[in-house]
Amino acid sequence: MAALSNYFNLEEITTARKVSAAVINISGRQRMLSQRSAFFCMRLVGSVNAAERAKLRGNLLEAIALMAKSHRDLINTDSSNLLSPPSLTVKAMYFEGPLYLDKQVREYIDRIKALVQVPDAELSLENPDLQYIIAAAGDKLLAAFDAVVSQYQQESEIEQFEIDFKQVELYQESCAATSKAEAQAAEIDRALREIKETQAQLMHSEKMSSIGALMASIVHEINNPVSFIHGNLSHANIYTQDLLHLLRLYQEYNPNPCAEIKDIIEEIDLDFLVTDLPKVMSSMQMGAERIREIVKSMGSFSRTDNSKMTQCDLHDSIDSTILILQNRLNAKTDRPDIQIIKNYEKLPGVECYAGQINQVFMNLISNAIDALDETAQNRPNAQLKIYIRTEVAEGDRVRVRIADTGWGMTAEVKERMFEQFFTTKAIGKGTGLGLSIVYKILVENHRGTLRCESEPGKGTEFIIELPVQQT
Ligand SMILES: Nc1ncnc2c1ncn2[C@@H]1O[C@H](COP(=O)(O)OP(=O)(O)OP(=O)(O)O)[C@@H](O)[C@H]1O
Ligand SMILES: [Mg+2]
Repeated sequence: MAALSNYFNLEEITTARKVSAAVINISGRQRMLSQRSAFFCMRLVGSVNAAERAKLRGNLLEAIALMAKSHRDLINTDSSNLLSPPSLTVKAMYFEGPLYLDKQVREYIDRIKALVQVPDAELSLENPDLQYIIAAAGDKLLAAFDAVVSQYQQESEIEQFEIDFKQVELYQESCAATSKAEAQAAEIDRALREIKETQAQLMHSEKMSSIGALMASIVHEINNPVSFIHGNLSHANIYTQDLLHLLRLYQEYNPNPCAEIKDIIEEIDLDFLVTDLPKVMSSMQMGAERIREIVKSMGSFSRTDNSKMTQCDLHDSIDSTILILQNRLNAKTDRPDIQIIKNYEKLPGVECYAGQINQVFMNLISNAIDALDETAQNRPNAQLKIYIRTEVAEGDRVRVRIADTGWGMTAEVKERMFEQFFTTKAIGKGTGLGLSIVYKILVENHRGTLRCESEPGKGTEFIIELPVQQT
């Protein structure tokens, strides 16, 4: 109602209606009073009962007092009453020919006043005032009143029509303004949402690219010394073998060395050294190999170039992600290791933005670890496993399944998990962006699909499908 009154000027409408109704009502009453007083005049003259005559005189005085008052109200419009000034047409009807209604009303009232003064004994049907009253009430005065009432009615209808028309215009204007404002609000809302979305995504990809940049610089620094060690280890291995061979020959041709050599052989436990040295060499080689793999994984994870698609080995991408997250998989004071069980089928290279795909695995595996952490807190003996399976799917696509044995999701969480900023995690722990970004990367940027199967208490599985070729 409050809103509607902004569109319709309710006060104006109501006042206009009240004024019209009052004017029509008063002028109708004038007409009625003139008829009634004529009737009283006839009864006064016709009556033979003094008491009744006295009562009729009272009635008549009352009636003309009322007539005079309402007549004044109609033609003098001071601000104290509700009436508005009469229109020019009405004024003309009161003060100009042919009706001269003002004059007629005054004359009528004067004639009644005069008749009321006539003593009982002199009252007769021939009384000129009575003659005038009866004639006026039945003819000229009645016609003038009718004309004025109908003029008032007409004017009220016109005024009402104008007000209605104005209200319709106002309403149309306000409708137009409202729909414009609504459109603007929707536009602002959309722009705000877009900004928020972009900001959120920037934040996340900023995080990813700073991890990437940090790793790229570490990889760069480690790469040289590692290659140096790895490259020289094979030579060191050959040199060691040669030296051991030479040593054996010396022992063969010189089985009884001098005392000083004998002492040193004993001191360094030569037999043990000779059997252990090749083992030391090979474990150093294995270690160097492992460092090289780690560096290689870090190298492939640090690729954050989003400007062009490349052929990507998804297994590399998954492995390097696991490597980055290794620290989170290790046992903690309140839970054992989280086990990762991989089951890789041979996959073709997949055309994609490698940095973005790393981000997908990072978000999904992090969520699985979060779920397992939470599960371990509530069920100390729970299995803590993440299964990662890859396979070739029909239609030149590949499928990756990431399943955890965590506490799963309720129907409500499942319904809302892709919403931006939806999180069930503690403040500061989750931003609620991970899955919305995963969805955007897979579905919008790579024409892929993302499905989730989850049951409370049983765990969660995310199933990704990506086309091998984008075009
Ligand atoms: N593997 C899962 N098991 C159980 N619940 C999950 C799993 N993955 C996601 N969820 C639920 O979906 C919600 C949304 O996940 P999403 O990755 O979008 O945000 P987040 O992990 O809470 O925060 P962020 O990833 O931005 O740090 C999570 O808060 C969690 O409730
Ligand atoms: Mg997450």
